Amino acid sequence: MVRVGGWLTVGMDLSMVREAYETAGLDFGDLAEDPFTQFQWWFSEVEAAGYWEPNAMVLSTVGADGWPSARNVLLKRINADGFVLFTNYTSDKAVELDTSGRASLTFSWAELRRQVRVVGVAERLSDEESDGYWATRPRGSQLGAWASDQSTVVPDRATLETAFTNAEKRWTGRDVDRPDHWGGYRICPHRVEFWQGRPDRLHDRLCYYLDDGAWSVERRSP
Ligand SMILES: Cc1cc2nc3c(=O)[nH]c(=O)nc-3n(C[C@H](O)[C@H](O)[C@H](O)COP(=O)(O)O)c2cc1C
Repeated sequence: MVRVGGWLTVGMDLSMVREAYETAGLDFGDLAEDPFTQFQWWFSEVEAAGYWEPNAMVLSTVGADGWPSARNVLLKRINADGFVLFTNYTSDKAVELDTSGRASLTFSWAELRRQVRVVGVAERLSDEESDGYWATRPRGSQLGAWASDQSTVVPDRATLETAFTNAEKRWTGRDVDRPDHWGGYRICPHRVEFWQGRPDRLHDRLCYYLDDGAWSVERRSP
């Protein structure tokens, strides 16, 4: 057996690891008119709860070969059009977003017994929108974007550090431009589900869905 943590051991039976969900529920009358407002309500409670990176979310994509792929990214903006994230446009995720035009987001706020799932269409932001966010990034993050060919194989860490040093030299004494290969995506949802954990696994799942341009809500069995 290989020990991988304080209590988790490879091969260990986790069937007895379970938590009770004693939180207040979620019902139609609690919900905002649209999922974006509802998301903002929940997000402000998540922030107040002191989460580290409360805006971390799992972005799921699908490849041309049909294989799914998922990774964490940061939500950077939300408005009535969608959920915005930033990345490298040549990365694996970007290729999959561009090719399929489809994405799913999952927010997991287990301490509050909450989950939000988003399904929608992925579109690139305009250059102006990406420039606007780029200008707010710390210089080190900007240089990192120049140094990393995200998702490609590198022989060792030294290669990355050399690329970073080269970027520092290139941009010495001036503002760092946004690379053409870096920018944002907007995920424009047609389905957003709010999940609230409840006792006895009778969790609340309320799902907004776009119906003829207007948001409707349905309850799904947990
Ligand atoms: C908490 C967290 C936040 C992250 N945020 C971002 C992000 O906003 N953009 C990004 O490109 N990668 C982010 N990453 C790294 C991605 O998870 C991933 O490793 C990287 O984008 C390459 O993914 P890909 O090869 O599937 O394209 C984050 C990772 C973690 C753990």
